[in-house]
Amino acid sequence: MTASMTKTKNRITRRQWLRQAAGVAATAATPLFLRQSALAAGSPAPEGTTGPGSLKAHAAARGLLTGCAVNAALFRDDENFRNLLAEQYNIVVPENCLKWNILRPTPDTYAFEDADSLVAFAEAHGMKVRGHNFVWHQALPTWFAGTVNKDNARKMLVDHIRTVGGRYKGKIHSWDVVNEAIWIPDNRPDGLRSSSPWFEMLGPGYIDLAFRTAREVDPNALLTYNDYSIEYDNDEDGKKRAAVLALIRRMKADGVPLDALGIQSHIKAGGTVGFHQGLRELIDGAKALGLQVFLTELDVNDDAVATEDIAERDKIVAEVYRSYLETALEGPEVKAVLTWGASDRNTWLNKGTKFRKQHPDRLQRPLPFDADYAPTPAFFALRQALDKAKKR
Ligand code: XIL
Repeated sequence: MTASMTKTKNRITRRQWLRQAAGVAATAATPLFLRQSALAAGSPAPEGTTGPGSLKAHAAARGLLTGCAVNAALFRDDENFRNLLAEQYNIVVPENCLKWNILRPTPDTYAFEDADSLVAFAEAHGMKVRGHNFVWHQALPTWFAGTVNKDNARKMLVDHIRTVGGRYKGKIHSWDVVNEAIWIPDNRPDGLRSSSPWFEMLGPGYIDLAFRTAREVDPNALLTYNDYSIEYDNDEDGKKRAAVLALIRRMKADGVPLDALGIQSHIKAGGTVGFHQGLRELIDGAKALGLQVFLTELDVNDDAVATEDIAERDKIVAEVYRSYLETALEGPEVKAVLTWGASDRNTWLNKGTKFRKQHPDRLQRPLPFDADYAPTPAFFALRQALDKAKKR
């Protein structure tokens, strides 16, 4: 359903409404490819989850932003997906198209089309945009290793941030300036990922360089350090969390421009370890430094859930959303909640079987909308958690 249809819904006759609602019921038994064309014809989403029932309406009532990562192909090809974005979210982040491997086809060229069109779409619909990301050890172009070296790495990094950050200056709510710089197995006292090409070429100073350059380029973007596996109450996450906290403390002490901590929040259902004490410790640590906190890539991997019953699985996933968000949104520090994707149709967890080791034949259902863009129990858990949050 489009935003304009939502507005006109109150004005259609009861008979028209019932006819549309019957259309929804009929889609349930229809094969997927036919359902897609039914959706394209504009069948309404179930009542109560759009307009005032949308995620963004519930988030805005609490002073929160809520959004998702946007897959460029889906965004380009699927009008229903674009409608879902505009209907549900007040912030978006490109899933891949601002990463070096997509944005930099050759050392001298930039492919801005996908990012440009998402930024324009967000502007047209009053949504904010997160930038993801300037510096990461992954998603580097194939030419990178043969072209970037110790002598030119500094210039390559600074030029990249100036060009990309400059193009979107004033249009970005927050930039993930550095992504995933901590890696405990590399065994350094400061926990830094020494196996990152950026570290190998520039040493630990690449982090401060990236943040200082980003601030110069777009002074109004909230500069964010973003990382994963720092959420759980176990030793492994505990060690990484401590290293992340030490890094951001060190940066603040050195006057590096840092405004926010991004907690990726790729979490799991079916495990036994929780995430309450550790998550609070992380959020409180960021708060003590005066930082905002964003949940940047929330999704719930349910590969370890034994039951094959879909309704049961969805319930378990929703319960993980509920309990995670209850802790995360307890205080006023977390200002934005973004899931990594909106619909199970294109979640990264279903690419290959890397995240489906225990159940390779089963697609994961980690997001607030199912493969047909219908709200899942996770949608309602997320919306309820937004409602429970204090106003910020
Ligand atoms: C993932 C994308 O979802 C995939 O499509 C891509 O193939 C690899 O990257 N942490 C991050 C994100 O910061 O950029 C990653 O996104 C998921 C993990």
